[in-house]
Amino acid sequence: MAFIFEMHSVSASYDTNTVLEGVDFSVDENDFIGVIGPNGGGKTTLLKIILGLLKPSAGEIRFNPDLPDSERIGYLPQISTGDVNFPVNVTDVILSGMMIRKRIFSRMSADDRKKAGRIAEELGLSGLERKALSELSGGQIQRVLLGRAIIGDPRLLLLDEPGNFVDSSFESDFYGKLKELNKRMAILMVSHDIGMISSHVKSFACVNRKLHYHPSSEISNDQLLAYGCPIQLITHGDVPHTVLKTHN
Ligand SMILES: Nc1ncnc2c1ncn2[C@@H]1O[C@H](COP(=O)(O)OP(=O)(O)OP(=O)(O)O)[C@@H](O)[C@H]1O
Ligand SMILES: [Mg+2]
Repeated sequence: MAFIFEMHSVSASYDTNTVLEGVDFSVDENDFIGVIGPNGGGKTTLLKIILGLLKPSAGEIRFNPDLPDSERIGYLPQISTGDVNFPVNVTDVILSGMMIRKRIFSRMSADDRKKAGRIAEELGLSGLERKALSELSGGQIQRVLLGRAIIGDPRLLLLDEPGNFVDSSFESDFYGKLKELNKRMAILMVSHDIGMISSHVKSFACVNRKLHYHPSSEISNDQLLAYGCPIQLITHGDVPHTVLKTHN
C-alpha cells in the first residue's frame, strides 16, 4: 500500500512553547484514522503540520513524491456554527475548495461549476445551491464544508471536529458518506467522541504532546491512560456521557 506522508521525530512549537514532540507517524492510502486527545493536546497543530501551515521545529515530514501537490489534501477546518453567518451561497463555498488550488482571484470555469453541482447533488444538497450558509441547518453546513474539502479530489481528507456540527439526523448520513469517500482517499478525523467514531474509523492516533498510534478501532480506557490520552467525558447537547468503551 502506498504511503501518503511519513513524519519522523517531528516536534512543533509556538515561539518557545513546544506542543508536539518526537512524533513518528505515517498515513497510507485508504487509512481511516481517528485522532483523539484532550483539549490543547496538539491535534489541530498536527493537522497544521500536515497542511504545511506550520513547519516542524525539529524532525521532518515527507510526502510521497508520486503524489502531485495539488491532489494531496482536502481540509475541513475546526469551526463552530457562529463562524458561518456570512452571506455566501452553497455553490460558492464548495467552489472555494478549488481556489486553494487555483489561487483566490482566478476565475472558476464552467466545468468547475458543474463539478460543484455534482458534488452538491452527491451530498444531498440539491435545490440548496443558491441558499446562504446562514439559512442552512448544522448538518447541511457540515456537508457543504465536506463538499468544499473534496472538490479537488484529494488523496487525503483532514477533518477537524466535524462532529461539532452533527445533529443526530445527519450523523449516519455523514459517516456513511465518509465511508464511501474512504474508498478513494485516506481520512484523518479529529474527534472527541470516541464512542461515536470507533464504529467508523479503522485505527486511532492519540495526541497529547506525544503521539501514540493504536492500530485497531477498539480502544480501552486502560490503553488511553497508557497513551497519556485521558478522555473521560464529552457533552452531547447538555448531557455529559462517557465515551469510552467498557471492557471486560
Ligand atoms: N497560534 C497559536 N499560537 C500559540 N499557541 C498556540 C497556537 N495554536 C495553538 N496553540 C497552543 O498549542 C497547544 C495545542 O493546541 P491545538 O490547537 O493543537 O490543540 P487541540 O488538541 O487541537 O485542542 P482542541 O481539542 O481544544 O481543539 C495549546 O496549548 C494551544 O494553546
Ligand atoms: Mg483543535
